[in-house]
This record gives sequence, C-alpha cells and structure tokens, in this order.
Amino acid sequence: MAKIEKRSLIREGKAKILFETNQKDFIIQYFKDDATAFNAQKKGSIKNKGAINNAISSWIFQTLGKSGISTHFVEKLSEREMLVRRVQIIPVETVIRNKAAGSIVKRFNLKKGEPLSPELIEYFYKSDELGDPLICLNHIFHFNWASPEEIGEMVKISLQVNGLLRKVFEAVGLDLVDFKLEFGKDAQGNVILADEFTPDGSRLWDLKTGESMDKDRFRQDLGRVDETYEEVYERLRKFFEGKV
Ligand code: TMP
Repeated sequence: MAKIEKRSLIREGKAKILFETNQKDFIIQYFKDDATAFNAQKKGSIKNKGAINNAISSWIFQTLGKSGISTHFVEKLSEREMLVRRVQIIPVETVIRNKAAGSIVKRFNLKKGEPLSPELIEYFYKSDELGDPLICLNHIFHFNWASPEEIGEMVKISLQVNGLLRKVFEAVGLDLVDFKLEFGKDAQGNVILADEFTPDGSRLWDLKTGESMDKDRFRQDLGRVDETYEEVYERLRKFFEGKV
C-alpha cells in the first residue's frame, strides 16, 4: 500500500475523530481523551484514554481477525491513530449481555450481576439526537435500517465476538459483563465489525473483587478512573504482547 497521508476531517464524534486519507477506501480513526456519559450530558476526560483505547481496540480487532471475524481494522498508525477501511455504518448497534447491569437492570427490574444465560442480544438505534433508543426488529425492518440478512450477520458476529472475548478477558482476570458493537458495510456490501472495542463501550468487572474496571467508574463517579483504564491496558498488554 502506498504511504498513507492524513487529509481533511470527516467528522468529530464524542470519543474519536475521523479523517480522510489520500486513499478513498481508507480512513483514519483518531482516539481522543474526552469522555462523555448519558448522551454527553456529563463531560470530562480520562488521562491517556485515547492511546489506551487505540491500543486495546487494535489488539482486539487483530485477535478477532485472526479468528476469521472481518473488521474494519487495517493497522495501528500511531499512539492515537488507527487506519481502518471505509464502511457505511449500519445505524443499529448490538448490545450483548452476559450479566444484568446498566440500563437493563432498571428496565426489567433485574438484580445487578444476575446471569443472562445464554447471552442476551439487544438492538439500539444509533442516534445521538434521540439518545440511542432501544429498538426491536420490527423497527429495523420497517425503517430499512438493516435487512434480515444483515441482522443475521450482525448477530452471528456478535455471538462469535462474545465467545472469543469472554475468554480473553477471563485470562486477564476480568468478567465481560456486556458490550456494544457497531457494524458497517464495505464496498462489496459485506457486513463487518466497525468502530472500536474499549472499556468505554463494555462492562468489565474484576473477577476477584467484582469492581467495575470500565467507563462506569466515570459515569458513576466511582473514583480511580485514570488508574483503572491504565490497569486494564497493562493487563491486556501483558496478555497480547507476543500474541498479535
Ligand atoms: P447500557 O446498560 O447503558 O444499555 O449499556 C450496555 C453496554 O453498552 C455497556 O457496556 C456500555 C455500552 N454503551 C455504549 O457503548 N454506548 C452507549 O451510548 C451506551 C448507552 C452504552
């Protein structure tokens, strides 16, 4: 591939900035330290989060790729930049839950930590304006947000990711409680995993203490936010170094 050059800004999101490159099929994801919660009603920043999330996402996407799961990841370019394939983002996010936490606890009056076995998959409509509402398949098909075949692929990939990553996190002493995935369609119309996989979009509980090791520390003002991101990074670094 010819040398990649960063070009104009495409879009600045809450945690990342997307840039054009000199090649039309590839874009750059820049990871910021900014942190938001409750649809950006709460704003702050987490020390080094951009570098940590870029590293974690890169390791995870490479690992998933090696197991045959197609992702938009191409390569890590620098501390905070990742080269990805350009995709058309599908406006439906999947949330995979192994245990009850967060919004589902209130919605169905569940006990926090209650196992959801087998894992539960939910769909959310990707819209900052609407605060990413929970949706069902009827909405997805009625509004043509994704086809039944595309949803089938998204569910298949979501379950594969859960199976693989539960083991990865268990190996570093973390319980993968839940996580959110985003998908895109490549130039050939294939559904592939996009966006990121980080402690911003997942719940990771320490297997020994049960403590939250993810963005819930920021959302709920639990303290030791910077240190926790650093700790998750260090555990995963030890696990992945030499493996990917
Ligand atoms: P929830 O319990 O708030 O519905 O969140 C479920 C999972 O999805 C949790 O790991 C955090 C993640 N998530 C995001 O990544 N972005 C969001 O906007 C929300 C609401 C949740």
